[in-house]
Amino acid sequence: MTSVAIQNATPPLVKGARATQSTIFLKITMAVSGLIFVGFVLAHMYGNLKAFAGHDDFNHYAEHLRTIGEPILPHAGFLWIARAVLILALVVHVYAAATLWKRAKRARTVRYQVKKHTGAIFASRLMRWGGVTILLFLVWHLLNFTVGKVNVKGGATNDPYNLLVDTFDTWWLTIIYLVAMAMLGAHLHHGIWSATQTLGLTGSERSRKLAKNTAFTLAVIIAGGFSIVPIFVLFGVISK
Ligand code: HEM
Repeated sequence: MTSVAIQNATPPLVKGARATQSTIFLKITMAVSGLIFVGFVLAHMYGNLKAFAGHDDFNHYAEHLRTIGEPILPHAGFLWIARAVLILALVVHVYAAATLWKRAKRARTVRYQVKKHTGAIFASRLMRWGGVTILLFLVWHLLNFTVGKVNVKGGATNDPYNLLVDTFDTWWLTIIYLVAMAMLGAHLHHGIWSATQTLGLTGSERSRKLAKNTAFTLAVIIAGGFSIVPIFVLFGVISK
């Protein structure tokens, strides 16, 4: 039997069950990769607060990231493992999001007759466009601080603290970062709540409430914690 014949022989109910299974798998994949990001941004945000301790402490912290795990691991070995995990999580997260979005679009064969702007439609658009914005932000961010080390003030680029101060001393760069952090906060708020639902952690009314509050609190702490460094640089509290 050819594969077409086999496919045609598969009853629609079985096909539907398989599609549902793979949709659940994709959602779990999104939730788990998303939670890896939550761990990363929480740690990164906390690390950035070292900027308040001044030039030497911040640069010492940046160097320490490269020596974690030595001598068992080579120099920057831990950083490369973390980078590999993050890249894998990013690929999986974006692939699952795009596939789920395409499926939802295909399933809606009939366009909405009355365009009701329900909360669910708004949330899914916010997640999609928020995700794209965060990706664009990430490209600029890595060019800015890691891959390219772009200093728009023309100052030194091999000194992490000075690069940070020069970047956020530039008002329009601070605005770009603050907009990105607002998008990140909204993405985390809805994403963490969705992940808890996917992972079956919202069975009772009490756990639903707890999950909602946790999603909100984490989103505010992460987006707020990231934002205060650029704001305090712009207002001269953190300076060279
Ligand atoms: C105001 C917000 C942020 C500030 C001030 C900031 C600052 C920095 C700095 C200074 C570095 C370079 C660290 C070093 O080389 O030692 C860095 C690297 C990085 N940041 Fe951020 N960051 C912010 C937000 C974010 C967000 C929201 C994400 C993720 C969505 C992110 C992802 C990364 C990544 C992936 C690296 C590269 C780490 C590496 O491979 O070396 N950052 N950031």
